[in-house]
Amino acid sequence: MSIIAESLGRIKPSPTIAVTTKAAELRAAGRDVIGLGAGEPDFDTPDNIKTAAKTAIDEGKTKYTAVDGIPELKKAICEKFKRENGLDYEPSQVSVGSGGKQIIYNAMVATLNPGDEVIIPTPYWVSYPDMVLLGGGEPVFVGTNDNTGFKMQPADLEAAITPKTKWLIFNSPSNPSGAAYSRAELKALTDVLKRHPHVWILSDDMYEHLVYDEFEFVTPAQVEPELYGRTLTMNGVSKAYAMTGWRIGYAAGPVELIKAMAKVQSQSTSNPCSISQYASVEALNGPQDFLATRAAAFEKRRDLVVGMLNAAEGITCPKPDGAFYVYPSIAGCIGKKSPSGKLIENDLDFVSELLEAEGVAVVHGDAFGLSPYFRASYATSEDALTKACTRIQKFCASLT
Ligand SMILES: Cc1ncc(COP(=O)(O)O)c(C=O)c1O
Repeated sequence: MSIIAESLGRIKPSPTIAVTTKAAELRAAGRDVIGLGAGEPDFDTPDNIKTAAKTAIDEGKTKYTAVDGIPELKKAICEKFKRENGLDYEPSQVSVGSGGKQIIYNAMVATLNPGDEVIIPTPYWVSYPDMVLLGGGEPVFVGTNDNTGFKMQPADLEAAITPKTKWLIFNSPSNPSGAAYSRAELKALTDVLKRHPHVWILSDDMYEHLVYDEFEFVTPAQVEPELYGRTLTMNGVSKAYAMTGWRIGYAAGPVELIKAMAKVQSQSTSNPCSISQYASVEALNGPQDFLATRAAAFEKRRDLVVGMLNAAEGITCPKPDGAFYVYPSIAGCIGKKSPSGKLIENDLDFVSELLEAEGVAVVHGDAFGLSPYFRASYATSEDALTKACTRIQKFCASLT
């Protein structure tokens, strides 16, 4: 009998990490590989944030802290929610964890009973379904497509709700599609949720600051105050402040839920890194002007990639409003043969052959629950993007 728990058989390791690993292996073997698989900004953490961390070390702020965050950070988070989202939260309503990932995990483990259902629109961030499964719940998928910009339609949400529904996990701008909901689109969804008071909303706002063309970011508790009492508004410093390695994520919501999440954290990892917490206080309280500069750089890259991918034979690439991913369809490539003679039957075949033939690493749509697409991250230099897209065009042209 295996030592490994049966529950682990229900989940899979992160497929996005698998692609990054495969690309690294090819690179180590001497191949020229361009990775468009990464889910992190290529920019550096701003200097004022690094300095705050160094000061924290010098001042001896290197010991255990309160399990779910130091008071200074909770205060900074409350001010952020007020300033940027018009939401009122008290420090007792705030939880800080080791990344947004831990926050979502804590919320699932703290709330799910066996058989509880969690609605997840597809394509989804890879970790949602597995976190639900680890918490003992059942993911319920709601499909979208590129005709509606990969946005969940209110009627589809309504149809997916059952008496067992505990949560909707909502993510805008979305990883992997980049889809971002306008106020009107979100209001149409919150109108549905208003009719189902037993459903809670976890809003993953991780890509809030990465929106383009003057898109107005909004979050559910802001659009529909009636949902405030059953919404967990989650965010983090990873993407906005280029702090993926510092591991700080946070959320705000009803006190009972926040206390339960702290209980989970207290018996697993305890407090997030003390130094990272002080750095995050500076991230949230310090100058914010670089956010717009970086978003402008991402917007330029998005336009470059969307233009070049649409020029590739068999690829259709919608223009997303946010995040740093594109999610193009490869429907026009299915049924063709690659130069190695392999029939492209699905998006996994496409990305595998692309990596082999042209040394470009992207992630297949099936990993995010919606095929036939792939996800390409444009969080890399314009030079690398131009080179990668030229190779993708070449690969598509070589299909017969
Ligand atoms: C949609 C989404 N939510 C949450 C996270 C987790 O972020 P963190 O690195 O803070 O754990 C990510 C990271 O890729 C993400 O894309």
